[in-house]
Amino acid sequence: KKAIFLTRHGESEFNVSGRIGGDGALSSSGKRYAKAMADWIIMQPEFYNREQGHMHIWCSTMKRTVQTANAFKKRIPNVKIYQWRALNEIDAGICEGKTYKQIESEMPNEFTARAKDKLSYRYPQGESYKDVIQRLEPVIFELERSTQPVLVIAHRAVLRCLYSYFMELPIQSIPHLDLNLHTVYKLSPGDYKTEVDRFTFGL
Ligand code: F6P
Repeated sequence: KKAIFLTRHGESEFNVSGRIGGDGALSSSGKRYAKAMADWIIMQPEFYNREQGHMHIWCSTMKRTVQTANAFKKRIPNVKIYQWRALNEIDAGICEGKTYKQIESEMPNEFTARAKDKLSYRYPQGESYKDVIQRLEPVIFELERSTQPVLVIAHRAVLRCLYSYFMELPIQSIPHLDLNLHTVYKLSPGDYKTEVDRFTFGL
């Protein structure tokens, strides 16, 4: 069975200022991650086979994942990068671009409601984790169908859902899972369970 590599985009300017959502570009540290991660991935025999040239990279339509994926273009000129709208980050609606502190002080009811039930809570004019899980169905279908290893470059909430699906974690734990920046999670499906290896880049 083929491996699935999951990573968040490199650090973005919004990550630096602690704001959620938006469509920010990578920070300088995020750009360094994109290059280091690409250099490392193409050395992984499970991922990139120089003779067959098989490698699939999926990202969202947001600047920060596309920019992270583009680091592969210099290294492998004919690489195929597929952009999925379904991989876009959870839509925080009226809270997009705010820090958690701002949400807590400006919209205390929203903040409390989310803290109480992060899985079902839907941002006004935005999405809930349950919405995200639903829109990821076609992505999961294609990932399971793929005969080639895939690198998915996406976002924190989206990757929490994908990771939990493949690791068979309880649905309630999804919104609370730790998935760090500048880390690649390699999932290797076995006959009974999926093994995970983490590779962290100190940048
Ligand atoms: O802060 C980065 C980010 O990807 C935001 O864009 C998103 O709203 C958030 O993380 C999701 O994490 P949580 O559900 O814990 O707020």
